Amino acid sequence: QKDGFRFFMEKEIYEQSDVVSDCMLGRIKDNETFFDEIDASIIEGIKEIKICACGTSYHAGLTAAYLFERLSKVKCNVEIASEFRYKEPLLTDDTLFIVISQSGETADTLEALKMAKNAGLKSLVVCNVDNSSMTRVTDYKILTRAGIEKGVASTKAFSTQTVVLWMLALYFAKEKNVIDNEVLQNELHALREVPKSLIVNDKIHEKTKRLSKRYLHGHGFFFIGRDVFFPLALEGALKLKEISYLHAEGYPAGEMKHGPIALADPELFTIALMPQNLLYDKIKSNVEELSARDSTICAVSPLDFELADDFIKTEKTDHYMLEFFEMLVALQLLSMEISIRLGNDVDMPRNLAKSVTVE
Ligand code: F6R
Repeated sequence: QKDGFRFFMEKEIYEQSDVVSDCMLGRIKDNETFFDEIDASIIEGIKEIKICACGTSYHAGLTAAYLFERLSKVKCNVEIASEFRYKEPLLTDDTLFIVISQSGETADTLEALKMAKNAGLKSLVVCNVDNSSMTRVTDYKILTRAGIEKGVASTKAFSTQTVVLWMLALYFAKEKNVIDNEVLQNELHALREVPKSLIVNDKIHEKTKRLSKRYLHGHGFFFIGRDVFFPLALEGALKLKEISYLHAEGYPAGEMKHGPIALADPELFTIALMPQNLLYDKIKSNVEELSARDSTICAVSPLDFELADDFIKTEKTDHYMLEFFEMLVALQLLSMEISIRLGNDVDMPRNLAKSVTVE
């Protein structure tokens, strides 16, 4: 039941604040994060983290890699599961192997997990479905508690995965004693604010409805961002592709000048993720270059930006991850509104299945 929402995807976007609260319940203490499902032995002897996943879950993994290196000071790399399986990867037992999956059934991710286990690596799955194939195979699991996700396009699974991985980064940081107490307190404070950042802002929802009228005619979209806002850009582009069938690409903003900027023209819409608290000046200059080449710019930012043709104004906050979650909701709404206006079946996009159990 859609509880008055037009689509399950819309309901699930609106649910994110509550499910993330559930996901954090009992997992944040005064000065640490904590999981019933794991203990400190999980990182004993670990020098590196490898993450494997597909699709939206892969984007959560890419986001986490920034947090593991920045906060936990552990080397981290992320691979698409279908690539990992056939590349004859070098695996060493000082690596913690993390797989991320909403369903716990994705064939490529499951096989990657089995390969890592067979090679003697410690494994952890971040998953929404207990008793799934992955939670049965892994050494450790952390459940994301997002509830059933019906929309084929993943929304609340991604926000809960990202929150779990951020909490995990802080758990490792504390266990390894590599985080300054003031930084830790600041991170915990921000974490507690995430449910607030995920509440749908009516003005932003209205704005995405208005933008959808013109954007459905776009012949191409670039979503650009830097740092964690790069995987967020990938996720924004994937959502738009999946449910609107419009061509969209996510790009690290600093890469545009190495080729893609050649595509810039007024019919090309650039959705620029411009957080106040992370590399603002850098992204600003990347967007200025695109604007000078006549790309139509939609800035997603709490700060005014005079070159923006369109604007989605997010709230001012004091942590870049809170901006991340606010922008996530805005991007989800934008793709959903475009899809609705195109008359598509938002919850059951063509050619896609909720769970990809074949390779
Ligand atoms: C995108 C989407 C897919 C899944 C991917 C992995 O909205 O839903 O890209 O993220 O198929 O699925 P899980 O997370 O179940 O392994």
